[in-house]
Amino acid sequence: MNTLDAIFTRKSVRNFCGAPSAEELNTVLKAAYAAPVGRALYDTVHLTVISNAELIGKINEAARVFFNNPEANPMYDAPVYILVSTKLSGTNDNVPYSNCATIVENMVLASVELGLGACHIWGATAALSMNADLIKELNLPEGFSPCCGMIVGKTTDTYTAREIPEGRIATAYIK
Ligand SMILES: Cc1cc2nc3c(=O)[nH]c(=O)nc-3n(C[C@H](O)[C@H](O)[C@H](O)COP(=O)(O)O)c2cc1C
Repeated sequence: MNTLDAIFTRKSVRNFCGAPSAEELNTVLKAAYAAPVGRALYDTVHLTVISNAELIGKINEAARVFFNNPEANPMYDAPVYILVSTKLSGTNDNVPYSNCATIVENMVLASVELGLGACHIWGATAALSMNADLIKELNLPEGFSPCCGMIVGKTTDTYTAREIPEGRIATAYIK
């Protein structure tokens, strides 16, 4: 698959039928390590690869409470959740947030190439970031906060060409 095929067939996949193999997971993580990071400050981002079903279940529960929706399943019974954490200052955090999002999208595109299902997970990550007990379980380095994440796993979904509406992002040209 070439890069444009991966970008144009990518979709959020939220149903899973197994865990990625160790080799697949390593490739997904290698895509994270290949991501650009502002001023190459790679020590300002941190990954936590969570395959512990109990912990994923607790994050799911925290997100249900956060969204006040007991019926929701915001972690989608995913076998693996890769959390991206960073150091936030509270002002001008556009670079740290963007670093994390860029890392996630690199991992998502690698997942497409591998035929794995993947989806950005910001909602449940926001719930996690406000739950002190759960944060303790992550053993994050000092000063790091959960920023965003993705779920990934084997899926029966497939990636095929999608309709991409050209006008859906307002685009101005200044000549
Ligand atoms: C920054 C960001 C945060 C997102 N957070 C979530 C999330 O918490 N839960 C979820 O199910 N999908 C999440 N998504 C997936 C979007 O809902 C999805 O990308 C959008 O609906 C377009 O669908 P597509 O990815 O299939 O093209 C997120 C996507 C992005 C880029």
